[in-house]
Amino acid sequence: MSMKTQLLNKIADRSAVAGVVGLGYVGLPLALEFARAGFKVIGFDVSKRVVEQLNNGVSHIQDVSSADLAEVVKKGLFVATDDPSRIKEMDAVSIAVPTPLVKTRDPDMSYVVAATETIVKHARPGMLVVLESTTYPGTTRELMQPKLEAAGLTIGKDVFLAFSPERVDPGNPTWHTKNTPKVVGGISPACTEVATALYASCLDTIVPVKSPETAELVKLLENTFRSVNIGLVNEMAIVCDKLGVDVWEVIDAAATKPFGFMKFTPGPGIGGHCIPLDPHYLAWKMRTLNYKTRFIDLASEINSDMPRVVVDKVAAALNRAKKSVNGSKVLVLGVAYKKNIDDMRESPALDVMRLLEELGAHVDYHDPFVPSFTEDGHAFTGVALTDDVLKNSDAVVIVTDHDTVDYQRVVDLAQVVIDARNATKGLKATQGKVVPLSTTRELVGA
Ligand SMILES: NC(=O)c1ccc[n+]([C@@H]2O[C@H](COP(=O)([O-])OP(=O)(O)OC[C@H]3O[C@@H](n4cnc5c(N)ncnc54)[C@H](O)[C@@H]3O)[C@@H](O)[C@H]2O)c1
Repeated sequence: MSMKTQLLNKIADRSAVAGVVGLGYVGLPLALEFARAGFKVIGFDVSKRVVEQLNNGVSHIQDVSSADLAEVVKKGLFVATDDPSRIKEMDAVSIAVPTPLVKTRDPDMSYVVAATETIVKHARPGMLVVLESTTYPGTTRELMQPKLEAAGLTIGKDVFLAFSPERVDPGNPTWHTKNTPKVVGGISPACTEVATALYASCLDTIVPVKSPETAELVKLLENTFRSVNIGLVNEMAIVCDKLGVDVWEVIDAAATKPFGFMKFTPGPGIGGHCIPLDPHYLAWKMRTLNYKTRFIDLASEINSDMPRVVVDKVAAALNRAKKSVNGSKVLVLGVAYKKNIDDMRESPALDVMRLLEELGAHVDYHDPFVPSFTEDGHAFTGVALTDDVLKNSDAVVIVTDHDTVDYQRVVDLAQVVIDARNATKGLKATQGKVVPLSTTRELVGA
């Protein structure tokens, strides 16, 4: 019987051991789906702390409850390990390690290379390897395939290699790992078939595509699409400010068009592990082919300038009160990169805080999801949102609009509120108390 048939049979009767390498925001929810589908799951991570915590049934990922994790640990369906030799027990290995950028905005492939090399050391015939980490087109074929082949394994015959992008949206109550369609592209038709069979056993919808390059590019198109459209509405916010028009009203009214328009909202900039980084993987790859991706560069330029736009609004608001930024107390409200989650990676709040501090402001922050964090070796601890903190701050800047904050109370008590998220929409406020991203000119006779 061929390796492919053996593996397909093991997937069908759930005797296959599903492996996940990298147990973070992407890997842990995926591991749980495999376990729920009846597979025995081994999760490998280089972090001893993460491994110990998970084996004790404690989840470090907001979207995975400790109760759900503890249940699969107790049933013996999930075990975490930092012992790489256990990779040889895995029939399928899904890789979800970080793909950050280096300082020059080129891809940092060190985690994918390290994970691949570890897997290759323990690879054996009859294994499926799937890369899930977001990356540039060509990674699976050019970087991973040669390493597996150098170990004497023939792709499509002995081992099966594919790319399948993860689309998890942390904090999204509707769309999660199980019900979000999953794109799969293998090196050969046999690779696509085996990878499709694995994911179809635990996820609702699988979308097979012709090649790993297609699947790699699908993810980059999705996130470039978001980056470019956010860049467009951020520029529209600047345009509206200069015209004295309310950008939120423009967007909401445009969104009443039942076709041909998709709503994106402006803000203080973009954050997270995906949208600020992923498009640069494509830009980098295209630079190697002597092509400049202009939309990506332009969107990145506009989006990364938004913290400065917000800080200019703070300076102007303080100026109207005859105060300078230098020496003023500024409270940043919300520091996670988006609402209702605790993820600080690439958060625009970090830039807002840094720019304010550079101008001499005394900056405090409050975030119900982020009690403390460390950035560049500097430790920050949040303050409680007391009446005194709100009253005594010269300005309050809403950078992230978590739902649990009472914004009417913020507006009532604060001296001035700079609202980069439209969190104060529809609230009662005295004239000039709330400064939106685009300031509406007062209408004659209004
Ligand atoms: N976070 C998201 O919302 C999201 C969504 C879609 C895709 N992605 C992509 O998925 C990938 C993983 O992102 P994440 O957010 O889950 O990262 P993460 O930092 O939350 O988790 C990565 C895990 O990998 C572990 N790790 C690092 N090197 C390792 C190695 N050599 N072997 C084993 N484990 C290793 C780390 O210890 C960590 O626990 C990235 O490419 C990211 O772009 C992320």
